[in-house]
Amino acid sequence: MITKVKGTYDLLFDETRRWQALEQKVRKIFEVYNYSEIRTPIMEYSKVFHRETEQSEMVTKETYNFLDRSDRELTLRPEGTAGVIRSYVENKLYVNQDVSKFYYMGPNFRYERPQKGRYRQFSQFGIEAVGSDSPYLDIEVVSLAYETIKRLGLKGVRVRINTLGDAESRKNYQEILVDHFSKHKETLCEDCQKRIDKNPLRILDCKIDKDHIALQTAPVPAEHLTPAAHERYMLVLKGLNEANIPYETAPKLVRGLDYYSHTVFEIEADIEGFGAQNVLGGGGCYQKLVQELGGPDLSGIGFAFGMERLLLALEAEDISLIDEDKLDAYILTFDNKDSLVSTTLLNQLRSNDIKAEMNYMNRNFKGQLKQAIKQNASYLLILGEEEIKNQMITIKNTKTETQETIPNKIVVKHLKELLKK
Ligand code: HAM
Repeated sequence: MITKVKGTYDLLFDETRRWQALEQKVRKIFEVYNYSEIRTPIMEYSKVFHRETEQSEMVTKETYNFLDRSDRELTLRPEGTAGVIRSYVENKLYVNQDVSKFYYMGPNFRYERPQKGRYRQFSQFGIEAVGSDSPYLDIEVVSLAYETIKRLGLKGVRVRINTLGDAESRKNYQEILVDHFSKHKETLCEDCQKRIDKNPLRILDCKIDKDHIALQTAPVPAEHLTPAAHERYMLVLKGLNEANIPYETAPKLVRGLDYYSHTVFEIEADIEGFGAQNVLGGGGCYQKLVQELGGPDLSGIGFAFGMERLLLALEAEDISLIDEDKLDAYILTFDNKDSLVSTTLLNQLRSNDIKAEMNYMNRNFKGQLKQAIKQNASYLLILGEEEIKNQMITIKNTKTETQETIPNKIVVKHLKELLKK
């Protein structure tokens, strides 16, 4: 048997309907906030993600890279942001001199160790607001992230927020970090030893050294901001207070990608059985990414949520986004004699938006009835011998068990009325 690739999954029946319902819900919210959908390719030239300044584990160790048949270096996207910005620059969307607001959803690929809520092919939905570094845009984006999760019905939704400051703050802070971690160099993991000079901020995000004393006692970015960066951060927090967004400051939050500056944040919720794994998504500002991908000196901010994780959270919290799967009507015949009549009727029903089904498996009446009940049909349309002869149909309500026999000419109209009730 050929199986699916490790870290991937199939979506079947009701699961797919849950996905569609989630997609529909978030689309609605994003549209209200004036974001428009963008669909970028799943594969990009590797350099879109593999930039000199991006030394995060996700990009250096987890991407799916390959050469195509003409030896082009390509990468399956591990996240949405870089591709959206590549497209923003390539399509010169900055010429409108306003904020470009995108939302997106779709698959991403990371070579991670698969476990519950972590896959090698996983889907995100997210937004990017590009073209301004206004702190008011940070307030909008953090509020939107909060609101999206809140509207799905999860409880205890809150924001964890931090700032990494502007370029100057980051430079100052970086020097302080190098100084701090150099004192602990020998006992840090091999990767972190290399990171001290290359990218000390990444040490704060190390999974191996997460309990190391050097990380516990490390200075935090918010204490080493320039006055302007500090003022900006205070304004963002004030805006969140005004908007009644529950947040806590998380001085050590740096997130798993290197393109961030200023505001970074994550969204958590109280989820039964999730414990500390309750981070559903996150994001932040990126001041240099547009420029690094060949565009002008413009800033952006965005976030993304893992859709699998969100759906698991909704399931754990017993929140259903879909109605029960139901058929409006199921057509039953005696001994399969009159299937052509059923086919015609089925077509009529469906052209009138009535969700209907019939038997294709040569089942007897009892077998058909079983199927109708299994598929949750609200009405049975019975074509017995007498009915066919007199051009009538018997309609039976499966809940009340009441039935009536009516001329087949008016069955669609009548059934529509019944379904309205
Ligand atoms: P990220 O934190 O790497 O950020 O991913 C966002 C979310 O994607 C995570 O919180 C998680 O829910 C989900 N996720 C990540 N990896 C996996 C996986 N292997 N399996 C299942 N779910 C996963 C970003 O991707 C940034 N692009 C967010 C952003 C947008 N920043 C600015 N704009």
